[in-house]
This record gives sequence, C-alpha cells and structure tokens, in this order.
Amino acid sequence: MVQIEEQPRLKVAGRDMKTLNCINDAWLAIEDDKIAGFGKMADWEGISDWSNLTVIDADNKLVMPCYCDSHTHIVYAGSREGEFVDRINGLTYDEIFERGGGILNSAKKLHSASEEELIESALKRVNEIMMQGTGAVEIKSGYGLSTESELKMLRVIKKLKTLSPLTIKATFLGAHAIPAIYKNNKRAYIDLLINEMMPKIAAEQLADYCDIFCEQNYFTKEETIEILTAGKKHGMTPKVHAEQMSNSGGTIAGVEVGAISVDHLEFVGDAEISALQNSKTMPTILPGAAFFLSLPNPPARKMIDAGLAIAVASDYNPGSCPSGNINFMMSVCCVQYKMTPEEAINAATINSAYAMDLSSTHGSIAVGKQANLFITKEIPSYNFIPYSFGSNLIETVIINGRVLMDN
Ligand code: NIG
Ligand code: FE
Repeated sequence: MVQIEEQPRLKVAGRDMKTLNCINDAWLAIEDDKIAGFGKMADWEGISDWSNLTVIDADNKLVMPCYCDSHTHIVYAGSREGEFVDRINGLTYDEIFERGGGILNSAKKLHSASEEELIESALKRVNEIMMQGTGAVEIKSGYGLSTESELKMLRVIKKLKTLSPLTIKATFLGAHAIPAIYKNNKRAYIDLLINEMMPKIAAEQLADYCDIFCEQNYFTKEETIEILTAGKKHGMTPKVHAEQMSNSGGTIAGVEVGAISVDHLEFVGDAEISALQNSKTMPTILPGAAFFLSLPNPPARKMIDAGLAIAVASDYNPGSCPSGNINFMMSVCCVQYKMTPEEAINAATINSAYAMDLSSTHGSIAVGKQANLFITKEIPSYNFIPYSFGSNLIETVIINGRVLMDN
C-alpha cells in the first residue's frame, strides 16, 4: 500500500519528496465513501461479522490513492490534430496562433457547440482519466472568450460535477487569449472580464479559481495582477499559466496575489524560485504539454533541491496536451526531469491535491480521507509505473468507496 499517512500533511516539499510511506502486506477498510482504517496484516485484529462486506484481494498488487489532476481544459469542442501536423511541418505554436489557430481555433469550435454536445464529449474524457487513475480533477473554461460562451463552459463543468463521481473543481480562464474582435482593444476585453463576466460567474457560483495565460501575445504581468485581484474580490482564488514559453513574470505575479498554484514553469529562473520559497503557492509542472510542444524542461530538479514542493498535472487540452494520462506524465518527470518515482508520485497525489485545495481529503491513504483508490495489476514495485511508460497497469478503480472499474 503506497502513500499512506498516519499524520496527514497538506503538502510535501524538498527532500521529503524523496520519501513515500508504504506498507507491505497491508489491509485497508472502507466505510461508505471514506477510508476507515488500514495497517499491516500482521497487526490486524480480524473481524467477527463478514456479512454484507465486499472483500477485494490485492495479493501482489499495489494499492494507491488516486491521482489528483489540478490543471486541465477537458471541456472543448472538436480537436486540433491539423495544428499538430502543421507543427511537425515547421510552424511554431505562435505562428499557428497568429493565423487564428491555437486557442482561437478552439474558441471558434466551442462557440457553435451546444451544452449537451460539450457535456457528452467531456464526460468521455472524464471517464477516460478515471480509468487511468485520476480521482479528482480541476477543469478550466477559457475556450469561450465571450460572456455567453464562458458561462456555457462553466455551466458544463457544473453539470459534470453531478454526472461524474470524480471530485471536480472549476476555474474561470476568460483571460486565456484576446478574442479576434478585441485584437486592437485589449483594454475593452479586460474590462469585459472584470465588469461583466466575473459578477455573473460569482452570482451563479460557477468557479472556485480564476486563471490567466501570462505570456507574450497574451497577458502581461501587470494585467495578471489586475485580473486576478479582481477575481479574488469575486471569491475566486488565483492560479496562473506562468513561464511556459518565456520568462514573463507570471510566477512572481502569482506569488504576489497569493495564487494557490503557478503552472507550466519551463522558463522559471532563480528569482522565481526564491519568490516561491516563502509562499503558499504550489509550483506545478505539466510534462505532457512540454513534451507535446517540444518545450525546454522545467527546472524541476533544481526547484525540489531548493526545498520547494512540486505538483504535477496533465494540462489535458486539444492544443498542447491531448492526453490526461498521469502515469505517462510521471514517466516524463522521471526520464526527462530526473525526478525519482517517489517524487513523481508525491507530485501527482498529495501536492496536486494541495493545488486544488483538496489535500485534507484526497491525495493520500489516511483515515477519514475520501476512499478514492486504485489497485494495479500484479507488478513488482511502484517504480514499475513510471518505468513501463505507455502501459495501463491499473486494474481496479474505487471512487467514493465504490468500485467503478474492474478490468
Ligand atoms: O495550458 N498555455 C495556455 N493554455 C493551454 C493551451 C491551450 C491551447 O493550445 O488550446 C496550455 O498549454
Ligand atoms: Fe493550461
């Protein structure tokens, strides 16, 4: 049994990330939707009444807490494999955006999709990531870019919460790109975000977080501070897409406004690392997007060695990461960033739970936490998960105490 906690922590930082508490030959009990107890088989006192109990034998298998995916854009219409081929043939992500592709391409497609269509396609993706071990997910808007379409996306996310057993958090990402009609009047779009969209979103309580793409051609550091500060006034905790394609100030802006996480971080330098050191902000890396766009590696090793905590999430979206498979993301962490399997698992469980305010209920096996667990096939160790990249080693998924998938 992997990632157990006798005394639950909210996150794991620095050198502590190298440790993963495990029990060999363990028992675990679930009552309703919560973890009721666990321990070594040798210490198990047994039970007298076996009636009405479901017993699962996990001999030679691993039991792990489900992953928490604190950064996705899984509500979207259509797909963008044409841009994937364009990039293979030499166009850059920026050049594709300049031609009206990228986020604007997804916004065009989303505009003409109905709520029902969006729910249906997103639910398939939610079920897909659940089978890959994810038990909680954050989902962003940001392909709407108009009041009507941003509200549509957020209402779809709200509906997904009722249709899926996964724990879902919602993020307003109206500041994902400047829509074509505001190309020469960014100020007017920012005013629309702050004065029209935010009050409506707050009135319907549609978002837990407010996010922004702080990057050249998108939003500046100053705009990041302005927009996230306005979001806070409407009860939305800040998050930032920061330092993905250049060093643009998103990390420092995020720390300044008290962001719960700053995400991507390929271009983080020493100034960002020291700003993060005395903050509550969780640096979050998105290895799938860095891999898919051939971006430089984020300095994950350096950040952990500087004592920081690191979370890993998928960024599942049609443009920069059409996958939500956290097992694969952990392989990239180990192979490319030289994180140990223990660090990768801590990053994908307890630390990513922190990045969505869930680490008191999710992200580890602890008494009283949500019974969101998976059981692997027979494998020799947890190292085998990032090692055997591309394989699906998950056999059984338990969400809220119920077995939802059994291969
Ligand atoms: O997280 N960086 C900005 N946003 C997304 C990509 C969105 C897209 O290309 O559709 C990301 O990588
Ligand atoms: Fe993203």
